[in-house]
Formats: sequence, structure tokens, C-alpha cells
Amino acid sequence: MEKRKIKENIYWLGAIDWDRRLFDALVPLPDGTSYNAYLIEGSDKTALLDAVDPAMADLLLSQLRDTPRVDFIVSHHTEQDHSGTIPLLLERFPEAKVLTSPKGKTLLMEHLHLTEEVLVTVADGETLSLGDKTLRFIHTPWVHWPETMVTYLEEDRILFSCDFFGAHIAASDLYVTDQGRVYEAAKRYFGEIMLPFRAIIAKNLDKLASYPVDMIAPSHGQIYSQPAWILEAYRDWVLHPPHNLVVLPFVSMHGSTRKMVDHLTAALVARDVRVELFNLAVTDIGKLAMALVDAATIVVGTPTVLAGPHPLAAHAAFLANALRPKAQYLSIIGSYGWGGKTVETLAGMVPNLKVEVLEPVLCKGMPDQATLAALDRLADAIAQKHRENGFQ
Ligand code: FEO
Repeated sequence: MEKRKIKENIYWLGAIDWDRRLFDALVPLPDGTSYNAYLIEGSDKTALLDAVDPAMADLLLSQLRDTPRVDFIVSHHTEQDHSGTIPLLLERFPEAKVLTSPKGKTLLMEHLHLTEEVLVTVADGETLSLGDKTLRFIHTPWVHWPETMVTYLEEDRILFSCDFFGAHIAASDLYVTDQGRVYEAAKRYFGEIMLPFRAIIAKNLDKLASYPVDMIAPSHGQIYSQPAWILEAYRDWVLHPPHNLVVLPFVSMHGSTRKMVDHLTAALVARDVRVELFNLAVTDIGKLAMALVDAATIVVGTPTVLAGPHPLAAHAAFLANALRPKAQYLSIIGSYGWGGKTVETLAGMVPNLKVEVLEPVLCKGMPDQATLAALDRLADAIAQKHRENGFQ
């Protein structure tokens, strides 16, 4: 695809990765992704904002074939899907300086072995004139790494945000045309990489609130020509109390844990508590991360394997611990064959979760009436906690 004009002397460049189905060897990409770069041609100077994943460097270099000079390459974020092509760009444009945050400078030297001579750090709020266009650099740490920053183009009121507000979507439409689809992809992306950093992201949102923004141009997915809704969505994800929602990741080997999961789900629904189930044998962990954005309670359903939790349940617990969601309650249910320490092992895997643990329900073999009654009591406890907190 060739470069595409956004406004006079402002262009989208980059690559649409229709085929990619996994990011960081971890995160599923059901809709592919894109790596967006942006070219701003001022009356005096030209700046390129971000680059592309090295696997698609040829596309970016081809889009730049008629660009005689790039004075500045702005690196908002060191992760290689945005920065990995910078060494090749410096070969093509040896006159260019790479502008980045102070932490970005260190990371670019470590990750790409860029030399100190090509790197220039920009302070929070610093401006750079390209002649008739002015770039303002705003430090926005932890969207996704500690060095991340964004660029505000003052004359055109465009915010170039890199991962911030991004969504893994491959699409030929340059602008958001299906808000529902992008909402889900953006929330999934927030859940996967930004959920642990909510407090800092709230400060970043406050910082951006003083800038009138007509357009947000992220480095994944489509451009927001009407950005108010995605800014509001981020405020909700970051600041809103958890919802009246139980997220229930589970795995079952012979059906006993599944019976317990189904019984608890029905009991919660009967008590007006929403539930999202994730069968870990088949689930997309991006969907699980997205659900954790809102969950008030997490219940892990697992059989006992070799005296501990099933490895898939351990994986989910590890993920939840790393994402540090807003959830305030946790419980564990499941069936065991002969014994084990499933509850102790799982509980020890989630030290980051600031949760109250509600009485786990474990049973030997097939759940009996006493086990089902215990699950009803767990549903009672969850519903009561949610009511007391006013979770909606
Ligand atoms: Fe799109 Fe954190 O890289």
C-alpha cells in the first residue's frame, strides 16, 4: 500500500499485517494488526513519527522512496514493532536525528544499538518547529513501557499516540468506521498491556485533557477522526469501579469441575450477578484479559493434577497476577482425584492481587449435594459482596 494523505503535508505510512495471529509470542491477534508511521512535511523540516515492524521494513522504505530528506525520526516507544526499522531508516536518511524521551534514549541504545550521536532527548512538553508545523512532545509513561511518549501536532490538533489508544486491527479503511469493532479491539489491547498501569494512565489522560484533539492517530489500527469516545472509554477502563461481574477461567478433565462451574454460574445468574466463562483449554487469553478490565470477582475452576492446579489454570493465575486487575474478590473451585494442595499453590501465585479470598469449594470426585450447596453459599457470598459495594 502507498502512503495515504491525512491532511495537507501529513501522511499515513506503514504496513497492514493481515496475516499475523500472535504478538509477543503470547497475545492472539484475531483481526491481524497494523504498524502505523506518520510523515509530517513542514515548510522547513520533515519528521517521521515511528516506524514499522522490521519484517515489513521494505514497505516503509518503498513508501519513502520519493521523500528526499527526513530531518527527525520521532521514536515514541522502543518496542521493536515501532522502532525496529529505525537502523535501516538511518542508513537511508543519514542526516536524521532520532528524537525520544530520556528513558527512550537508553532503551534505543540497548535494544537497537543506536549510537549516542544520532539520539536527541526531548523533555516533557518540549516543542519542535518544522516551519509551519509545531510538534509538542508529551511524556506518557507506561502506555506500554516506561519510556513511552506521544506527539501533539499543534496546528492540526492531531495526537500521535503510538500504543496509547491503539487496537490490533488490520483494515483497509484508514479511519474508524465500525466503532463497536474498534471498541472491543482497543479494550482487549488495553487489558493485555496497560491494565497494570491504570494509576499512571489516569494521570496521562489528565495531562492530555488540556489539549484540544481533533484526531488521534495511533500506531496500531485505525485513526480516530472523532476521538471523544475512545478517550471516554479509557477513562471508564481506568477509573470506573469494577462491575457486577464474575470472571471464571476454568479447565476440566473429566467433567466434575465443569459441573461445579456450571452450577456456580447458574447460581450467580439467579442472584443477578453477571458471569463470563473461559474454558482455558480453548480460550483466547486476549478475551480473558479484556474481561479482567471489569471483573469484581475472579473464580478459578481447576481440577487437581499431580497434587496442584492444572497447568492451564496456573497460566491463567499467572496472567491475572501480572495484569493486577481491579477485582476485589477471589475464590477457587474444583474437583480432585485423591488429594493435593491446589488451593495453597494457586493462592500463592497471585500475590499482586489485592483481593479478599472467599471460601474455596473443592470436592473429591464428582460433586455431590453437599458440594453443590457449598457452591450456592459461594454465590450468596459473591452476590452480597457485590451488592454491598454497589457494583453495577
Ligand atoms: Fe506496539 Fe508496545 O508496542
